[in-house]
Amino acid sequence: MSYNSDKNLGHSTTINGAPASSDRNSLTVGADGPIVLHDHHLVDTLAMFNREKTVERQPHAKGSGAFGVFETTHDVSAYTKAALFQEGAKTEMLARFSTVAGEQGSPDTWRDVRGFSLKFYTSEGNYDLVGNNTPIFFVRDPMKFPHFIRSQKRLPDSGLRDSHMQWDFWTSHPETAHQVTYLMGRRGLPKSWRNMHGFGSHTYMWVNGQGERFWVKYHFRTCQGEENYTNAEATEMSGVDADFHRRDLFEAIERGDHPSWDLFVQVMPYEEARTYRFNPFDLTKTWSQKDYPLIPVGRMTLNRNPENFFAEIEQAAFSPSNLVPGIGLSPDRMLLGRVFAYPDAQRRRIGTNFHQLPVNQPKVPTNTYVFDGNMNYHHSGNQPTYVSGTAGRAFADHNGPIEDGWESDGALVRQTYSLYPEDDDFGQAGTLIRDVMDDEQRDRFVETITGAIQGVRSPVLERVFQYWKNVDQTIGERIEAAYNKSASAK
Ligand code: HEM
Repeated sequence: MSYNSDKNLGHSTTINGAPASSDRNSLTVGADGPIVLHDHHLVDTLAMFNREKTVERQPHAKGSGAFGVFETTHDVSAYTKAALFQEGAKTEMLARFSTVAGEQGSPDTWRDVRGFSLKFYTSEGNYDLVGNNTPIFFVRDPMKFPHFIRSQKRLPDSGLRDSHMQWDFWTSHPETAHQVTYLMGRRGLPKSWRNMHGFGSHTYMWVNGQGERFWVKYHFRTCQGEENYTNAEATEMSGVDADFHRRDLFEAIERGDHPSWDLFVQVMPYEEARTYRFNPFDLTKTWSQKDYPLIPVGRMTLNRNPENFFAEIEQAAFSPSNLVPGIGLSPDRMLLGRVFAYPDAQRRRIGTNFHQLPVNQPKVPTNTYVFDGNMNYHHSGNQPTYVSGTAGRAFADHNGPIEDGWESDGALVRQTYSLYPEDDDFGQAGTLIRDVMDDEQRDRFVETITGAIQGVRSPVLERVFQYWKNVDQTIGERIEAAYNKSASAK
């Protein structure tokens, strides 16, 4: 007997599309007898259930997102020919926001960097900008990235997160100072995703219609106003509602309150990269806005929630390798490492043909020479599978310098970047503390770090004090004094 009270709903089906006879009762020998193996609907139901979960993203596991539109409102054709950045262009897009270290179920309001991933479904193919809510990062060599992420995750024996391990990593790698200063400041606890800025962080290349090259940095400024939580507010919220940021975004869009961000770029003429004060490709540094002011480009607005979280957010695959004509990479070796890492992670996390899923596939026709593999869906029929001058299938045949390339020469070495005149690990971090923070923010900063280093043991503890003295002597002394006071009060 059917249990649908509403006949207009039709019926449910088995996975081969035939009407299912029951989603409530398995097939048994009599009412009280054993279940039979040929109840394939039960077998499929249980087997698919066992396979429902896929692995979570290694970093940035907890997040959510929404669809929207990017509109280019200003003429930046002097810098890029990319179709999506031509004045008046409107491009469908997807955004995903996330925390970095926590797992799927972790609270949204723990202090952490937030991911700011964007996928633009442009008329020239998909363009992804996979950034964060900070303009900089902790390390400047991809070799260090897995070590860094593990130090922020869990101990091998207890499975607990551990402040000693976090500070051990940070103080062993002084280039982290700028990003740690940022993270321990007010922006380490955004009130909501809607209230935070976004950054491409790396330096990218733009190429205009005349083939001229520029270096660019992306800044997305929230139109909702930047707002952050205090430590107390964030801690309380992490207990009250672990999904607060996910809920906030979904509910805002549901009620028609569509969040938006204005995109600006800093543009550096190609040749100036050689002589800038700082290495412009070092991800631990910003470019001064006095040197390279913000140039307006357009606005992104998120206006549509996912219909299905798993299909459209969990299976979304963002990658810095998704580029379009007029936008290129740069010598930033972190960026070059990421270009490999993301599609590789996604082939494992989602499956070989992750790029064919509706959320990931471009809106324009594709004609690639990659074939088959697990779950292949789009195919090229009986078209030749190899490049041939006579087989009648298009193929690319550029030979010579590429338009979004740069010059490079030298011996193969394993060493850090060459230093530019003002390059050091602590300078920009110190500027952030002295020139950007006010007295109240500095007080909170000392309080936050004093809290964050509880549990750190010698000799890392002494290294922590020295790390902050290197950033700013006064702030380091204040942190040491505040920590000693908290320790003597125990
Ligand atoms: C060499 C350094 C890095 C490596 C090897 C790396 C690797 C990864 C990997 C493997 C994922 C999971 C991808 C997936 O499963 O879909 C990921 C996610 C992510 N990473 Fe990185 N990452 C690096 C640096 C960065 C930097 C510098 C940023 C920001 C500027 C960043 C932002 C993100 C974001 C936002 C996500 C989440 C993407 C999403 O929303 O699906 N990562 N990273």
